[in-house]
Amino acid sequence: MGTIIELQNVGFIAEKQDIIKNLSCQFEEGKASALIGPSGAGKSTILKLAAGLLVPTQGAVYLRHEDISLMNHERMLNFRRQAAVVFQDSALWANQSLYQNMELPLRIHFPQMPKRERDQRINEVLAEAGYQKDLMMRPAKLSMGEQKLIAFARAMVCRPVLIFLDEWIESLDENAVQRLINIAKMHKDAGHTIIFVSHDFRVVKYLADYVFIIIGGVLTMKLTGAQLTSDMALAQYIEKGIVS
Ligand SMILES: Nc1ncnc2c1ncn2[C@@H]1O[C@H](COP(=O)(O)OP(=O)(O)OP(=O)(O)O)[C@@H](O)[C@H]1O
Ligand SMILES: [Mg+2]
Repeated sequence: MGTIIELQNVGFIAEKQDIIKNLSCQFEEGKASALIGPSGAGKSTILKLAAGLLVPTQGAVYLRHEDISLMNHERMLNFRRQAAVVFQDSALWANQSLYQNMELPLRIHFPQMPKRERDQRINEVLAEAGYQKDLMMRPAKLSMGEQKLIAFARAMVCRPVLIFLDEWIESLDENAVQRLINIAKMHKDAGHTIIFVSHDFRVVKYLADYVFIIIGGVLTMKLTGAQLTSDMALAQYIEKGIVS
């Protein structure tokens, strides 16, 4: 299907430190791409750059060949409507109830949607994610794992076709992990694009069509998922040396 997101010579400097260094890569539409690498390598930063949430200090990020930083408000809103991000720290709105957290993306992107339909959508994605408790609480009352479920469900509520997942299954129980992996797989099978970060090598092997290895803010290696599943020695080297 071709490239959906491209980073061209992207650098990112924060507090005078080179976090990302002259990184170029392309993410393919309809495929799952994994970013893997040691802690502090720059994976979350790359994900946020690719999602247009951070602006590179050098180079540019393109969505279907359009420079994201040059998009007007309407184009940006259109991009945001199609895309969803699950942040590593969940990033739920602390001063809003869980219900309000779930509802706000629908209110922004589908202002005409009747409340009944909003509620139906919210219930649907929560059931898929496996969250069944009270929605009137604030996020701080939830465990980290429960916050992850809500963050994931919130990301799915607008039915995204471009999905950014930052360690979205880490710290969940095995059943929840399976559920969220299955949902990601369903999106992939439906032709949606997934760009994800994970330290869980099983998931990388199961889901990723492409694997980008990031070390010290640099794209060190790009592999196909097929290489990881067919080359045991390579897979072991990467799992032991890089992911865990
Ligand atoms: N805004 C910022 N200001 C200063 N330093 C930053 C900023 N953002 C990221 N960094 C630093 O850049 C490095 C990469 O951060 P990033 O969160 O992208 O790593 P990561 O690969 O996602 O790590 P982890 O696997 O632990 O989540 C870290 O050393 C981090 O402290
Ligand atoms: Mg991270």
